[in-house]
Amino acid sequence: MEYALDMTRIPQHIAIIMDGNGRWAMERGKERTYGHQAGVETVRRITKECVRLGVKYLTLYTFSTENWNRPTDEVAALMGLVLTSLEDEIFMKNNVRFRVIGDRSRISAEVNKKLDETEQHTAHNSAMTMVVALSYSSKLEIAKATQSIAQQVKDGLLHVDDINETTISQNLWTNFMPDPDLLIRTGGELRISNYLLWQIAYSELYFCDTYWPAFMEQDLQKAICSYQQRQRRFGKTEAQVEDEKNEK
Ligand code: IPE
Ligand code: IPE
Ligand code: MG
Repeated sequence: MEYALDMTRIPQHIAIIMDGNGRWAMERGKERTYGHQAGVETVRRITKECVRLGVKYLTLYTFSTENWNRPTDEVAALMGLVLTSLEDEIFMKNNVRFRVIGDRSRISAEVNKKLDETEQHTAHNSAMTMVVALSYSSKLEIAKATQSIAQQVKDGLLHVDDINETTISQNLWTNFMPDPDLLIRTGGELRISNYLLWQIAYSELYFCDTYWPAFMEQDLQKAICSYQQRQRRFGKTEAQVEDEKNEK
């Protein structure tokens, strides 16, 4: 089924919790890693579709700091996949800039090098920015931002009374992009799992049961369709939002 989308109201920033790789594989009698491999294909499909639709930022939850506690062989397989799947060609063909956010200190030198190279090679691509959250924890990100702000105060660069919401946003790893308009979680779980806690304060949330490897372009369209049927009020009344729309 094709979804009739309003191309003037495509979310600028979509964040996705790509969940369900392991269960998808187990249901097929395969190893969990097989699901992660299939998940890479979905990343390619969805990236292309986002570019086609005109999405500007796509932030993908790829590996959480909590995921370091998984069995060593699964962690190794996931890091191996990061290495092999970061092909310049995909980014160059689709004019996609690559960025990474997360606790880089826990990532191996080899993977970090690949991440740096891919960021550098794609720095001038402009259709869309794909942000990979790797070794990511939103609580850690907020703690690091707090450290950085405290240091700026200590160094006399910032006054305590001048710390506001913008200061915090500017000190997060995500400071180069706007907050997500739409957050999608695949795989059926109804939780946030330490993802972009500050940034999703006013995002529209969309949960679906489909496992990530089975998530298709149409599923993305369905999520955007749901997003387009909602009224974002940001605390105002329905009438106020309608009036503002008519004034435009
Ligand atoms: C998401 O799929 C990918 C990562 C967390 C790395 P999972 O591996 O969590 O798959 P399920 O949720 O166990 O099915
Ligand atoms: C969240 O998935 C992290 C990623 C998708 C990378 P998990 O599968 O780790 O989440 P929980 O632990 O079930 O909440
Ligand atoms: Mg999971």
